[in-house]
Amino acid sequence: MQETSFYIKAYGCQMNVYDSKNIIEIMECRGFVRTLDPKAADILVFYTCNIRENAARKVFSAIGMLKSSKTKVIAIGGCVAQAEKDEIFKKSSLIDIVFGPHVYHKLPDYIGQILNGEQSKILDIGLEKFNKFEKAQRKNDVLFSEFVTIQEGCDNFCSYCVVPYTRGREYSRAAKDIISDIRYLISNGAKEITLLGQNVNSYDGDAAYINIGTKGNTWKLDRLLYEISGIDGLKRLRYTTSHPKDITVDLMTAHSEIPILVPFAHIPIQSGSDRILKLMNRGHTVAEYLDKLKMFRTICPHMQFSSDFIVGFPTETDEDFEDTVKVVNDVGYVVSYAFKYSRRKDTPASQMDGQISEHEKEGRLRMLQDSLSRHQIHRNNSLIGQVHSVLFDKCGKKENQYIGKNGYMQSVVVECDSNPIGEFRNVLIESSGINSVSGKILQK
Ligand code: 5AD
Ligand code: SF4
Repeated sequence: MQETSFYIKAYGCQMNVYDSKNIIEIMECRGFVRTLDPKAADILVFYTCNIRENAARKVFSAIGMLKSSKTKVIAIGGCVAQAEKDEIFKKSSLIDIVFGPHVYHKLPDYIGQILNGEQSKILDIGLEKFNKFEKAQRKNDVLFSEFVTIQEGCDNFCSYCVVPYTRGREYSRAAKDIISDIRYLISNGAKEITLLGQNVNSYDGDAAYINIGTKGNTWKLDRLLYEISGIDGLKRLRYTTSHPKDITVDLMTAHSEIPILVPFAHIPIQSGSDRILKLMNRGHTVAEYLDKLKMFRTICPHMQFSSDFIVGFPTETDEDFEDTVKVVNDVGYVVSYAFKYSRRKDTPASQMDGQISEHEKEGRLRMLQDSLSRHQIHRNNSLIGQVHSVLFDKCGKKENQYIGKNGYMQSVVVECDSNPIGEFRNVLIESSGINSVSGKILQK
């Protein structure tokens, strides 16, 4: 029998990359064969992001470009699917399957139904919680640095954000399932694990699912980190993303006590203006945020941070924007991400008066990015002479050039004769650029 091939393209955040990897595993277990050439594929799967408008727009233009005479089924999954529902069929008559981020484990069945002619269009945006994780068989190549979802969804309802609607309300995976996934990954070659979630520090493992550990019934992020750090063979541990209001002293203490936990956290503030933070429904002030970072650095002196920023939120004035730049200057982030506010359907902010013009947003974005770049250059320069532990995971463009990441998620480039890929090496930083630093591997 001829094999049925599929091509998958994922857009957006790390959670989407992780989900699409699970989809690949589920599809391959069911006999579908992955191809990296969309024109040669029987099935095209697009796993989408809806967080900003251009992320959603990209998908529809890609369908037209990647489709070929061989294409038999087109499936759209993820957050755009969840948000747009059957409207997607109206946007493109080429689409056969629309599936939300909670039901990707059912994709092979749905594809079968379309191929057999049992159904002509399928829509499933159900909110099942744990089934998809159980269906991922994890038989693919394991990377040296892997992601594991511990928590999904968000209850914070920031006024600009679609996530609480597309990913649904917060739920946490059972600690024992997370630990068993990590053990599997480690025994198959992974050395670094990043715990993933829209809001990892609201992790709340359900005692009913847990049969390990003796410290009581509640499993918050700090307890999970302690438990995971004891897994043999795990060399480095990270997590992302955090909400400032849920950062606890226990979590800060975990950073100071767990040697393999990186001294780094992504803690977005979004805006440096209290008035805008209130309109954003962020649930904290600038001073509360800065106090938490200060306390973090007191408990764990090497701690560094990154953040997300949104510019051009409705009613944002030049003064509000300057307050944001001030936070950037005060904190000195290792790296940060700045976005233009994007008006998302059905979110409270999309209905607010005082929407800012694209032109204004673009100007502010450029100014903020300049500021962030200046800090990044300054910070990268300050690393010269330091020794960092680097996990190498890819080759560079030049011969004998290798690239890895240090504990702060910065790219470190070296040139050397023996291939260090898959290994941690101590690197003396000798020079710096805007997006990476370079150095030499020190002998053990
Ligand atoms: N417009 C612009 N940026 C947004 N983000 C979330 N929603 C929007 C939006 N409507 C950004 C936030 C968040 C990151 C993942 O995406 O900064 O932290
Ligand atoms: Fe969106 Fe706010 Fe939740 Fe982050 S905390 S996912 S920005 S609603």
